Amino acid sequence: MSDKFKIAIFSSGNGSNFEAIVNANMPNIEVSLLFCNMKDAYVLERARKLSIESLFLSHKDFDSRKAFETEIISRIEKYDVQLIVLAGFKRILSPFFTSHYEKKVINLHPSLLPAFTGLHAPRQAVDYGAKFSGCTVHYVDEGIDTGPIITQGLVEIDDNDTEESLIQKIHQKEHEILPKAIQLISEDRCVLDGRRVLIKS
Ligand code: GAR
Repeated sequence: MSDKFKIAIFSSGNGSNFEAIVNANMPNIEVSLLFCNMKDAYVLERARKLSIESLFLSHKDFDSRKAFETEIISRIEKYDVQLIVLAGFKRILSPFFTSHYEKKVINLHPSLLPAFTGLHAPRQAVDYGAKFSGCTVHYVDEGIDTGPIITQGLVEIDDNDTEESLIQKIHQKEHEILPKAIQLISEDRCVLDGRRVLIKS
């Protein structure tokens, strides 16, 4: 049996962050599974090309959020993952799910939290006239984009930036900070102290 730190990545769309994690040079980490809830998501194709096992379940096939989440939990149990990484997963996971994996679910969000939570964060930042934005990796708690922050990446917003150009810049930064956060957690270097995540050297 492999003694690697096993993770599952949840994505609903393009999957550039999924690919960045798989291609990051992290020899102690095994991406055991991609979970996707959207049938036509390009991330499924990326997983096939990268020979990563994938699981597709549509939330539309379930009567309730709890039924959907119960099925996810039972289907991923056998992979024995130590961390679930939400990388562009466009479905809210309820406390039923997150308490099952307490402190084992992290999320990537395209803003400097606590600014611009929820949908279309880069658009919100441009429309607001912010001069800087970025991305955040945080533990998932019962709220939306509210959990303790593990790391953040800063991006400057220029006068010429649009939502699309800002998304590009944020993506580049995300591809750096998300693998780093996973690496830190796999080395047991993130210590929760209330809302703060202290990084052990
Ligand atoms: C990323 O920018 C991520 O921050 C965002 O979805 C994108 C997925 O990109 N997540 C959210 O907006 C969650 N609220 P990708 O599919 O290319 O990795």
